[in-house]
Amino acid sequence: MKNKIFTACIVAIVMVACAPKQIITITDVHAAKAATKYPGATLASLQEGKSMYEGNCGKCHGLKKPSAYNEEQWGKHVARMAPKAKIDKHTEDLILQYLVIVGSSTKP
Ligand code: HEC
Repeated sequence: MKNKIFTACIVAIVMVACAPKQIITITDVHAAKAATKYPGATLASLQEGKSMYEGNCGKCHGLKKPSAYNEEQWGKHVARMAPKAKIDKHTEDLILQYLVIVGSSTKP
Protein backbone atom coordinates (compact mmCIF):
# COMPACT_ATOMS: atom_id res chain seq x y z
CA MET A 1 0.00 0.00 0.00
CA LYS A 2 2.75 2.42 0.96
CA ASN A 3 4.54 1.51 -2.21
CA LYS A 4 1.53 2.36 -4.33
CA ILE A 5 1.30 5.82 -2.81
CA PHE A 6 5.01 6.30 -3.32
CA THR A 7 4.74 5.27 -6.98
CA ALA A 8 1.77 7.58 -7.47
CA CYS A 9 3.79 10.48 -6.08
CA ILE A 10 6.71 9.77 -8.39
CA VAL A 11 4.37 9.53 -11.38
CA ALA A 12 2.76 12.84 -10.42
CA ILE A 13 6.12 14.57 -10.03
CA VAL A 14 7.39 13.27 -13.36
CA MET A 15 4.17 14.34 -15.09
CA VAL A 16 4.39 17.85 -13.70
CA ALA A 17 8.11 18.16 -14.38
CA CYS A 18 7.86 16.92 -17.95
CA ALA A 19 4.67 18.73 -18.92
CA PRO A 20 5.11 21.13 -21.82
CA LYS A 21 5.03 24.82 -21.01
CA GLN A 22 1.53 25.23 -22.30
CA ILE A 23 -0.59 23.38 -19.82
CA ILE A 24 -3.81 22.57 -21.56
CA THR A 25 -6.16 19.97 -20.21
CA ILE A 26 -8.55 18.41 -22.64
CA THR A 27 -11.88 17.73 -21.02
CA ASP A 28 -15.19 16.05 -21.81
CA VAL A 29 -16.50 19.49 -22.76
CA HIS A 30 -13.95 19.67 -25.56
CA ALA A 31 -14.71 16.08 -26.54
CA ALA A 32 -18.46 16.75 -26.76
CA LYS A 33 -17.85 19.82 -28.89
CA ALA A 34 -15.43 17.93 -31.12
CA ALA A 35 -17.86 15.05 -31.63
CA THR A 36 -20.58 17.34 -32.95
CA LYS A 37 -18.19 19.10 -35.31
CA TYR A 38 -15.97 16.24 -36.43
CA PRO A 39 -17.72 12.86 -36.62
CA GLY A 40 -15.61 10.25 -34.87
CA ALA A 41 -13.62 12.73 -32.77
CA THR A 42 -13.18 11.70 -29.14
CA LEU A 43 -11.29 12.74 -26.04
CA ALA A 44 -8.56 10.32 -27.11
CA SER A 45 -8.29 11.72 -30.64
CA LEU A 46 -8.03 15.26 -29.27
CA GLN A 47 -5.30 14.11 -26.93
CA GLU A 48 -3.51 12.47 -29.81
CA GLY A 49 -3.82 15.70 -31.82
CA LYS A 50 -2.32 17.61 -28.92
CA SER A 51 0.67 15.32 -28.62
CA MET A 52 1.13 15.30 -32.41
CA TYR A 53 1.04 19.09 -32.40
CA GLU A 54 3.55 19.32 -29.59
CA GLY A 55 5.77 16.67 -31.14
CA ASN A 56 5.75 17.90 -34.74
CA CYS A 57 5.06 21.62 -34.79
CA GLY A 58 7.55 23.06 -32.32
CA LYS A 59 10.72 21.99 -34.10
CA CYS A 60 11.27 25.12 -36.16
CA HIS A 61 9.42 27.72 -34.11
CA GLY A 62 7.58 27.98 -30.83
CA LEU A 63 4.18 26.42 -30.40
CA LYS A 64 1.42 28.94 -30.88
CA LYS A 65 -1.45 28.79 -28.45
CA PRO A 66 -4.51 27.09 -29.92
CA SER A 67 -6.43 30.31 -29.22
CA ALA A 68 -3.96 32.32 -31.33
CA TYR A 69 -5.94 31.71 -34.52
CA ASN A 70 -9.50 31.00 -35.52
CA GLU A 71 -10.71 27.96 -37.41
CA GLU A 72 -10.16 29.42 -40.86
CA GLN A 73 -6.66 30.65 -40.04
CA TRP A 74 -5.63 27.34 -38.46
CA GLY A 75 -6.96 25.55 -41.53
CA LYS A 76 -4.60 27.53 -43.74
CA HIS A 77 -1.61 27.36 -41.41
CA VAL A 78 -1.86 23.63 -40.75
CA ALA A 79 -2.31 22.87 -44.47
CA ARG A 80 0.75 25.01 -45.26
CA MET A 81 2.85 23.52 -42.43
CA ALA A 82 1.93 19.85 -42.90
CA PRO A 83 4.49 19.31 -45.69
CA LYS A 84 7.14 21.09 -43.62
CA ALA A 85 6.40 18.83 -40.67
CA LYS A 86 6.21 15.77 -42.97
CA ILE A 87 3.01 14.51 -41.39
CA ASP A 88 0.33 12.44 -43.08
CA LYS A 89 -3.24 13.58 -43.69
CA HIS A 90 -4.58 11.71 -40.67
CA THR A 91 -2.10 13.43 -38.35
CA GLU A 92 -2.85 16.76 -39.99
CA ASP A 93 -6.56 16.28 -39.28
CA LEU A 94 -5.94 15.34 -35.65
CA ILE A 95 -3.76 18.41 -35.13
CA LEU A 96 -6.27 20.70 -36.79
CA GLN A 97 -9.17 19.31 -34.74
CA TYR A 98 -7.24 19.77 -31.53
CA LEU A 99 -6.27 23.36 -32.38
CA VAL A 100 -9.75 24.37 -33.54
CA ILE A 101 -11.68 22.78 -30.67
CA VAL A 102 -9.36 23.81 -27.84
CA GLY A 103 -8.63 27.19 -29.41
CA SER A 104 -12.29 28.10 -29.71
CA SER A 105 -13.22 26.94 -26.21
CA THR A 106 -13.07 29.13 -23.20
CA LYS A 107 -11.82 27.26 -20.20
CA PRO A 108 -14.52 24.95 -18.98
C1 HEC B 1 10.47 22.50 -41.00
C2 HEC B 1 10.14 23.61 -40.10
C3 HEC B 1 8.70 23.82 -39.66
C4 HEC B 1 7.83 22.89 -39.12
C5 HEC B 1 8.09 21.42 -38.81
C6 HEC B 1 6.60 23.61 -38.85
N1 HEC B 1 6.71 24.92 -39.20
FE1 HEC B 1 5.34 26.37 -38.94
N2 HEC B 1 6.55 27.73 -39.83
C7 HEC B 1 7.83 27.46 -40.31
C8 HEC B 1 8.37 28.66 -40.92
C9 HEC B 1 9.75 28.78 -41.58
C10 HEC B 1 7.38 29.66 -40.77
C11 HEC B 1 7.44 31.13 -41.21
C12 HEC B 1 7.26 31.26 -42.70
C13 HEC B 1 5.86 31.01 -43.11
O1 HEC B 1 4.93 31.57 -42.49
O2 HEC B 1 5.67 30.26 -44.06
C14 HEC B 1 6.26 29.04 -40.07
C15 HEC B 1 5.10 29.69 -39.73
C16 HEC B 1 4.05 29.13 -39.03
C17 HEC B 1 2.85 29.84 -38.62
C18 HEC B 1 2.57 31.28 -38.89
C19 HEC B 1 3.16 32.12 -37.80
C20 HEC B 1 2.92 33.58 -38.01
O3 HEC B 1 3.32 34.33 -37.11
O4 HEC B 1 2.36 33.96 -39.05
C21 HEC B 1 2.06 28.95 -37.97
C22 HEC B 1 0.71 29.22 -37.32
C23 HEC B 1 2.74 27.68 -37.99
N3 HEC B 1 3.94 27.83 -38.63
C24 HEC B 1 2.21 26.52 -37.47
C25 HEC B 1 2.82 25.27 -37.60
C26 HEC B 1 2.16 24.02 -37.30
C27 HEC B 1 0.73 23.86 -36.80
C28 HEC B 1 3.06 23.03 -37.56
C29 HEC B 1 2.86 21.52 -37.42
C30 HEC B 1 1.91 20.92 -38.33
C31 HEC B 1 4.29 23.68 -38.02
N4 HEC B 1 4.08 25.02 -38.05
C32 HEC B 1 5.47 23.00 -38.33
C33 HEC B 1 8.50 26.28 -40.21
C34 HEC B 1 7.99 25.09 -39.72
